[in-house]
Amino acid sequence: MTTNRKKLAAAVGQLEGHLAWLKEEGVQKLAADPKILAAAPPVLSTGTVAKTDSKPWKKETPTFQPLEKSLVGGSSSSRVQARELELPPTTSTNPALAEIAQRVAACQKCVLGKTRTRTVPGQGNPQPEIMFVGEGPGEDEDRQGLAFVGRAGQLLTRMIIRMGLTRDEVFIGNIVKCRPPGNRAPLPDEMAACLPYLREQIAMLKPKVIVCLGATAVKGLLNNQLGITKLRGHWQKYEGVDVMPTFHPSFLLRGGGEDKARWWEVWEDLVAVLKKVGREPPPQKTSAG
Ligand code: SF4
Ligand code: URA
Repeated sequence: MTTNRKKLAAAVGQLEGHLAWLKEEGVQKLAADPKILAAAPPVLSTGTVAKTDSKPWKKETPTFQPLEKSLVGGSSSSRVQARELELPPTTSTNPALAEIAQRVAACQKCVLGKTRTRTVPGQGNPQPEIMFVGEGPGEDEDRQGLAFVGRAGQLLTRMIIRMGLTRDEVFIGNIVKCRPPGNRAPLPDEMAACLPYLREQIAMLKPKVIVCLGATAVKGLLNNQLGITKLRGHWQKYEGVDVMPTFHPSFLLRGGGEDKARWWEVWEDLVAVLKKVGREPPPQKTSAG
């Protein structure tokens, strides 16, 4: 079991390295293997979802769809520019966002600044309808300077695609912009030190809806101490913006994907978000039809 886990971790690490290399090469489109999608829970897949069955994901036969520009945002020219300026590749071409990212890159307002590899200001559409806010960078994010690019990020990407969107169409950020050592949750004083950056980003981005991913995001942004299990699915407000709290993708992954009810709850929350911005979830192709 442990050996299998080690093998799996090594394989995931290799795959991530390969994806990072592809990204550097400017690859923006990857084909998803339908066999892998077939094994995934419905919220991950692009296939049929029929909520009448208690275990519909066992039956569905997802159809092949390319993962449109989903892994990374930004054009290769903006990445080259960013490199020339010695800024993180995440630095937006939007001047106001880039200016925030520059201040973040130089920030030492809390102890997380001492141990980070790169700052992770967040990235995406400078005028998004939907903004996702997570907790803080993990190992992969710390290495790449991009929010949600590790395992949780891949799940978030699938959710975004399932919503009929791409990562480029939304903005993805975090409560803290530097990785807490060992992936611990950020401490209250770290969140307080970093929050002004997020507040500035939100004021600039003016999203219609913010999706708070997990309890830390809710605590950080809304100062709401209620558990995520109670709060999820219930609309909140941040400075006039509608906020939907839902489970963090890592929480779904940690459960080993066993608790499928949680997956459905997240999907319900995301459907509510789509409705709020005047969108419908894209129709799902049926294998029967
Ligand atoms: Fe600054 Fe935020 Fe990093 Fe702390 S976590 S050093 S406040 S950017
Ligand atoms: N988890 C988060 O909360 N944020 C990230 O950017 C990655 C993982």
